[in-house]
Amino acid sequence: MNREQWSSKLGFILAAAGSAVGLGNIWRFSYVVGTEGGAAFVLLYLVIISLIGYPLLTTEIAIGRKTQRNPVGAFKALAPNSPWWLVGGMGVLAGFVILSFYSIVAGWSLAYTAKAITGFDATADFTGMFVGHITSLWPPIIWHAIFMALTIGIIASGVVNGIQRASKILMPALFIIILILVVRGLTLPGAGAGVSFFLSPDFSEVTSKTFLRAIGQSFFTLSLGMGALITYGSYLKREDNISDSAAWIVGIDTAVALLAGFAIFPAVFALGFEPGSGAGLAFMTLPAVFASMPFGTLFGFMFFFLLAIAALTSAISLLEVVVAWIVDEKGWSRTKAAFTLGGIIFLTGLPPTLGFSVLSDIKFLGMDILDTYDFFASDVMLPLGGLLTAVFAAHVWKTKNAIEEINSPKGVISFGNWYTVLVGYIIPIAIAIVMIVGIYDKVIK
Ligand code: PHE
Repeated sequence: MNREQWSSKLGFILAAAGSAVGLGNIWRFSYVVGTEGGAAFVLLYLVIISLIGYPLLTTEIAIGRKTQRNPVGAFKALAPNSPWWLVGGMGVLAGFVILSFYSIVAGWSLAYTAKAITGFDATADFTGMFVGHITSLWPPIIWHAIFMALTIGIIASGVVNGIQRASKILMPALFIIILILVVRGLTLPGAGAGVSFFLSPDFSEVTSKTFLRAIGQSFFTLSLGMGALITYGSYLKREDNISDSAAWIVGIDTAVALLAGFAIFPAVFALGFEPGSGAGLAFMTLPAVFASMPFGTLFGFMFFFLLAIAALTSAISLLEVVVAWIVDEKGWSRTKAAFTLGGIIFLTGLPPTLGFSVLSDIKFLGMDILDTYDFFASDVMLPLGGLLTAVFAAHVWKTKNAIEEINSPKGVISFGNWYTVLVGYIIPIAIAIVMIVGIYDKVIK
């Protein structure tokens, strides 16, 4: 069977940026920055993104383009008759788990898009409104179902007509709306306290858990450590350069996260919200911002609509990993794979949805079911996947081959011997230390 390819380098960059930019940049970034103490966390995140995120993102794309396979097949192709394919297998599993809670939060965005049509009333109790929504029984399930149906529909339509087309239109629109929100947030009276929370670091708040969460957030936001970029790289043409595209993807993703921070934190402080309030932060604060601005109804509608869309261009990459695996390895048709696996993911998404209503008594290490899925997938499986991918590229595939693949054709950024030291030693050791200490603190202590 002929494998589809992105029609241009720009098509690839936008699709991969579409995967990267999503709820991770707005919902997850703002709430984790809020609970982990602000600017010190942001600084850590930026260091990790550049020293670990960028080289690993480039590596994943190179593995994908070299082998033209899904994550499991890619490891099998480069290291036949060895257990390394399990790393790809763990990626497929992580995609499965992440999509089952991702779709729920994306469903909240759809629900808020609908609520925004009637406008947000400035005197409303936005915390109550959010809690009311997530603790209700049917609405979150229905929106989760609608979101999964959209994801399945796009994946069933294919790589170019589905994924690439959706990303090209929607990404630029999201960027513009966020810029408008930044201006509104920064001009609210009292915005300064939020800016300093976001920009002046207080290192006394940093613990081993902060490092673990910063690594987890970096991997999550870059779609790293689970083979999404191996899969997207597998549709990339040989004549397209890798290192520069990877820099664009990382740059766009980081810019959107920082802009989201400037849109959200000034408003959090100006309107008297708590930055550490957790997963509802963006959903409780932003409606209040919209309610306080001219044309707020219109902007509110556009924002939540685009948030849902940004989530969609990420969700399709999660489902694509799972679908590409079963299509390549088991010979299923794309349509059958998309509907069957998407359907199962809908079902595994039910426990975390119900974790706020009928299953609200179930807690794991103090986390609700949704946070538990998120913790194991994002803070454990993704960094572990990244660590093993780095070891694999440097010591099994060998850095010489990885560098050769990355540098052909040559781009503005060219990879050299520093890659061997960084990816072969520094990155795996750094991730291992952070994971061991962070998980020990969180789970055992
Ligand atoms: N990067 C996406 C986001 O920030 C989430 C994601 C994670 C997508 C892993 C694909 C793979 O929202």
